[in-house]
Amino acid sequence: MADKTATLRINDQDYELPILSPTKGPDVLDIRKLYGQADVFTYDPGFTSTASCDSTITFIDGDKGELWYRGYPIEQLAAKSSYLEVCYLLLYGELPSPEQMDDFSARVTRHTMVHEQMHNFFRGFRRDAHPMATMVGVVGAMSAFYHDSTDVNDEWQREVAAIRLIAKLPTIAAMAYKYSIGQPFVYPQNDLDYASNFLNMCFSVPAEKYEVNPALARAMDRIFTLHADHEQNASTSTVRLAGSSGANPFACIAAGIACLWGPAHGGANQACLEMLREIGTVDRIPEFIARAKDKSDPFKLMGFGHRVYKNFDPRATVMKESADEVLELLGIGDNPVLQVAKELEKIALEDEYFIEKKLYPNVDFYSGIILEAMGFPTSMFTPIFALSRTVGWIAQWKEMIGDPQNKIGRPRQLYVGSDKRDYVDLTKR
Ligand code: CMC
Repeated sequence: MADKTATLRINDQDYELPILSPTKGPDVLDIRKLYGQADVFTYDPGFTSTASCDSTITFIDGDKGELWYRGYPIEQLAAKSSYLEVCYLLLYGELPSPEQMDDFSARVTRHTMVHEQMHNFFRGFRRDAHPMATMVGVVGAMSAFYHDSTDVNDEWQREVAAIRLIAKLPTIAAMAYKYSIGQPFVYPQNDLDYASNFLNMCFSVPAEKYEVNPALARAMDRIFTLHADHEQNASTSTVRLAGSSGANPFACIAAGIACLWGPAHGGANQACLEMLREIGTVDRIPEFIARAKDKSDPFKLMGFGHRVYKNFDPRATVMKESADEVLELLGIGDNPVLQVAKELEKIALEDEYFIEKKLYPNVDFYSGIILEAMGFPTSMFTPIFALSRTVGWIAQWKEMIGDPQNKIGRPRQLYVGSDKRDYVDLTKR
């Protein structure tokens, strides 16, 4: 219940709008009845001032650079937790007891294999397909393979779909990669932890033994954790919008993957590393900074800026530390791409344009550097983001389906097209 109201005056008529107070963050004007009462819509392209739902999952304070999952700060989770524990937290709202953790790990682990028939489905793609293209298709096709978990009104089926998606996404991402480089698929190995299993599926080959480096597995796990959820971003809102029609969870997650692919969102990690390579040497940085500032040039510094974070991106802080550790471990601290990245970060953070517009390096600026050092090609960066974010999408989707207020998402519009006119026959035009 709202205990405060705001008054909106339109043509000398007052309308009382309830003001809702969240646990944290700014108050929210409830305009749900506005159209019915006042016959007006609100206009907010890009949803910069609009809350589309209430949620208990993730909180972001963009000014303070804070990100919490279920109240726990991301820095603590990245340092002390594991990705699977974070998955449990996001899905069920609390940290698990040791027994709950064992049970959850066992359930995820037993679902890591994909239906054998799916191998044929992969083989229908061109070898040079981008792994994101393959993933959109294969994840969408999961609803054709797992009929017994597509009924959104059945709580048990929703639960099975959630576990299947979390368990199988690493397998699907690794298969998309293996297919693109012409190597055989590697089956999941259930005695490995989640991150090690993914690394093994990506980098082992039948011809020789592959030992997962535990430090790299830990860095991989941290990348998964840092990307696990981010409240109502573009891909999550896409999943919620797709799900609001009652579409099955696999179709909804495929929609989320499609949205994530764009360079303004998850595709930025690939775009950022490609940009760093294009810059090539430190002396060319000023040229690219100048282009980023030039309004007539569509170029943007990839990996900089964020819709919500206007101080710093807390994920980037953790990712930067991880990048330093991984590069030192692998003995490639003097990597030229890293030199460009470090110098670019320094120059941009001191530049008036970037200071004034509050543009800071975001999570994608550093994740690509770590992933490249681990041996992933740039085309795998966004699939890794997608597999990490799957749990966030699913948690948000489950929250929406279980919400009695859930309605089909249906924004209105400000129509600026032609007024009514009569059809003119083709011969008379
Ligand atoms: N380089 C140069 N100028 C920029 C940049 C940039 N990376 N980002 C924003 N600006 C400028 C922008 O031109 C605008 O200037 P003006 O006020 O003069 O028109 C101002 O800063 C505000 O930017 P905006 O585009 O209105 O901000 P937004 O909230 O709509 O966009 C963003 C946020 C992340 C899409 C944008 O900053 C961007 O395209 N960054 C590069 C892509 C990127 O790194 N994306 C990853 C985001 S983090 C992970 C994720 O969410 O997936």
